[in-house]
This record gives sequence, C-alpha cells and structure tokens, in this order.
Amino acid sequence: MSGSKLAVVGAGSVGSSLAYAALIRGSASNIALFDVNAAKADAEVLDLAHGTQFAAAAASMTGGGDIAVTEGADVVVITAGAKQAPGQTRLDLAGTNVRILEELMPRLLKHAPDAVYVLVTNPCDVLTVAAQKISGLPAGRIFSSGTVLDTSRLRWLLARRAGVAVPSVHASIVGEHGDTEFPVWSTATIGPIPVRDWTVDGEHVFTPEYLAETAREVTQAAYKVIAGKGATNYAIGLSGARIVEALLRDDKAVLPVSTVLDGQHGISGVALSLPSVVGSGGVHTVLEMPMDDGELAALQHSADTLRHTLGTLGI
Ligand code: 2OP
Repeated sequence: MSGSKLAVVGAGSVGSSLAYAALIRGSASNIALFDVNAAKADAEVLDLAHGTQFAAAAASMTGGGDIAVTEGADVVVITAGAKQAPGQTRLDLAGTNVRILEELMPRLLKHAPDAVYVLVTNPCDVLTVAAQKISGLPAGRIFSSGTVLDTSRLRWLLARRAGVAVPSVHASIVGEHGDTEFPVWSTATIGPIPVRDWTVDGEHVFTPEYLAETAREVTQAAYKVIAGKGATNYAIGLSGARIVEALLRDDKAVLPVSTVLDGQHGISGVALSLPSVVGSGGVHTVLEMPMDDGELAALQHSADTLRHTLGTLGI
C-alpha cells in the first residue's frame, strides 16, 4: 500500500481508534487525521506518531485542524458528528449529523476529489444516502461501514459457543446498522456445516431460542458498551481499518457494507448493508444473497424504517 493516503475525519474516540488500528495494521502508508478541534487533532496525531516505530509497516502520521490535511487522499473515512448518548438510538442522531455532512462534504470533495468515501458516523445508512446526494458520487464510491462491525460481533459470539476460530464462522448481519438489523441464519455456516446443524458434545447447541438470543445480543451490543464506557471505539476502529485495506489493496473482499441500493431485493434509494464486493475504487457489486421469506420480510422492514427516517429529514 505504498503511496496510499487515508484521511480520517474526526479525532474523537472512533476516529482516533480507527487511525490507531490503521497504523498498527499498516492499512495505509500515509494517515492524516483531521478535526475542527485543532488542539485535539494535533494531540492525537502526536500521540499516534510517537508510536510509529512499532507499527506493522512504515507509515507517516499527519493531521491537524486544517481540512487541507486531507489533500489527495485515496480513502476518506468520516467519523465526525454527534454520538449516541446512553438511551439514544442511532436514528436519533440523524438531523444533527446530516447538517454536519452538508457543511463537510463539499469542502472534502475539493481536497480529495478522487477519494472513495466511507461513512462511519451514525446513523450511517441514512448519512450514506444524504452524502451520496450532496456529493453526486456514484453509489459505489460513497458507502458506509454498515454492519461490518455487527457481523464481527455475531461471528465472535458464534465462534465462542462453537469452539472454533472466528474467521471459520460464515454468517452475516444485514439491513440497517441499528435496531432492525438481523442475522441471515438460513445460509449461516461454521466451516461447511449449517449453524443450525452444529453440535457440541453431540448436542445441537444453536437452537431457535439460542439463535434469537444471539441476534438480540448483537443488536444490543453497542447499547451495552455505551452504557459502560460512553462510546464504542476499538471494534469499529478495526472494522474501519479492514474496509480501508480492502479498498487500498483491491482485495475484492466480501464485506457487509451499506450502499445506496438500486433494485437489490426490490429495494432502491435506501442504503443498507448486504454482502458486497469491496476493492479498488469502492463497492464493485452488492450481492443479492439467498434469504428465506422471514429474512426477506425483515430486510423490507429495515428498508421501510430507514425510508421513514429519510422522509422525516426530507431526503
Ligand atoms: C456501534 O455499533 C455505536 O454504531 C456504533 O458500535
């Protein structure tokens, strides 16, 4: 990834953790962190730069309070905005964060006109539609981290119960990155074994009750972390760094990012997560994965919920 530039917008706990994860993993050779709070951005950049000796690959760490630090970025990750207070849903942040985006996007596009834009700020699905409209970029070049993190949470929970490595769990959370998201159990497997058929000591452990509780645990995960420490930051930082790598290395990785849909499963004009091929230049393809009737209904419910929020905002 030599010569590649990642710009992270927002030096709060999510932006700083994302820059930290990208630095450690060697996700980009230049990482720039921008925040309107120049003192905070400067301090985070210094703190990160002081550790570059120990990063996976040589990387330069720059940034500050001038948006020009994003100049010429290949990937811009947006984390700036209001964050959930305990008890708030992600959708409660929509109005405030759309206004921030309206101010930010045109300025970012001046400095990084050729970048791929990844939204992490919540509600990320709603903001993806807003940002795509503001920027006029093709849908594949402006998308959000969606349910990449939720899918990681799901795989971790299943792997722990099954006693296997997390990457050996093939299961996805799709839909809204929020309360209406859901796991696609009908195609979920551990190795080649359907999740529902997996046994521990000869016993089917993934009963309908167990799976329902696991789905609930994933949906509630962020609320639990926010109640305890005020924010989620490390796992979203790692998720964001993984998406950046897919873009800069042209991985063509299948990741459940959120893109404005164009007829997939009969849904258009709403952004939500479906497994998608992510590589150089952005999202190459949004996959229409097989789902049973209940899952298709849940996807429509997620789309309807997001469409309703978009409507209230006049988007
Ligand atoms: C998360 O899921 C709050 O969206 C953030 O961790």
